[in-house]
Amino acid sequence: MKERIKVAVMGYGTVGGGVCGVLTEKSSLLGLRSQGEGSVELKYVLDIRDLSDSPVARYWVKDIGAIVSDPDVDVVVETMGGVEPAFSFCMKCLSAGKSVVTSNKQLVAEKGEALFEQARRSNVSFRFGAAVCGGVPVLKTMVYGLAANSIRGFAGILNGTTNFILTKMFKENASFEDALSAAQRNGYAEADPAADIEGRDACRKTAILCSLAFGRHVYPDEIPTQGVTGVTDADAACAAAAGGSIKLIGWGKKTDGAVYAGVSPMLVPASHLLSHVDGVYNAAELHGDKIGSVLLYGQGAGRDATASAVAADVLDCIRRPGFDPAYSWAPSNGERVADGGVLPCRFYVRGTAADPEKAAAALSAALGTPRFLSRAGAPADELAFVTAQPAPKAHLLETLGSVTAFEALRIFPVFEG
Ligand code: HSE
Repeated sequence: MKERIKVAVMGYGTVGGGVCGVLTEKSSLLGLRSQGEGSVELKYVLDIRDLSDSPVARYWVKDIGAIVSDPDVDVVVETMGGVEPAFSFCMKCLSAGKSVVTSNKQLVAEKGEALFEQARRSNVSFRFGAAVCGGVPVLKTMVYGLAANSIRGFAGILNGTTNFILTKMFKENASFEDALSAAQRNGYAEADPAADIEGRDACRKTAILCSLAFGRHVYPDEIPTQGVTGVTDADAACAAAAGGSIKLIGWGKKTDGAVYAGVSPMLVPASHLLSHVDGVYNAAELHGDKIGSVLLYGQGAGRDATASAVAADVLDCIRRPGFDPAYSWAPSNGERVADGGVLPCRFYVRGTAADPEKAAAALSAALGTPRFLSRAGAPADELAFVTAQPAPKAHLLETLGSVTAFEALRIFPVFEG
């Protein structure tokens, strides 16, 4: 046992600042929880920006060499974001025999294979619990809590910023711009918030969950992804009329050996708990063959929530300093995620029709009595409905194409759990 465990933090942004705060505030508690005694202490904070006037001025270094060459550093935390130089720095730390903890989704989703390989070779720990759902221990639960299960699938609200924006816009009548500014002020959004809005952040988290759940690297570019830019007041009101809400859902499942995954807005019926997850909160449902479903809920973004997950991983590195094969996955075998469009589901559809009555009759005949939705203030030519029978998306598109009196503007799947 080492009485004083030393930690270096790379990147003093929102999350890095939170990690430094936790390490300073809870040094003895972390020592107690990781080893039964002693302390876990901050030794370096790496940043190219001038930190000489910051609360961490005495730990500030600009050169990764200071961390890599110091045998006293046990664990390195990466909270820089982006792929480079985060990837090169993490590889250097792993090669130097340091355990590494990261909150960086993009790094793990794109470079996980190489990082695991180096961690395995150096026999050190590499952990990334904060990369999915911020403070909610989804990955740990999957790896350790559900260790006796084969994971059949998962689905969840994986991006705090978009959930916060959708809640502000549709429950509090805020504009998109105001809601996004508030998310940025609160430290929820990515440096480039387009990654949140366009679904790329949720896609990276979906890729990580797929990789860990199904055991081989799934890359973000394999996952069909649609963000929230197309979700309007009209859709929120129609979803409410259908007894649900629109949520950005990331999901993955393995059926007959094939992995399916996707990220898109969905109409989530009020009967499902995910429909009631608002604000910056995330929730992920894991399906195991023994446990059935487990739902985890909590703050998915923000300084302290994310720092909580990073600190927990630091403790795991101290408790299990060697490479943990359970917390990793095999390289990609070249097989890509299968087309989820072939899986049958029901759909929410909103569009326009010059003669809505005639179009409704044609749609009813073609689709087998969909449930039509009405909302206050809808334009006279609007027609919105939820299909009655689950069908592959290609079938729906084909059927809609045959109803010339109707033009679809939005098509979102209905979340079935
Ligand atoms: N921008 C991310 C989100 C941060 O809003 O979920 C946490 O991963």
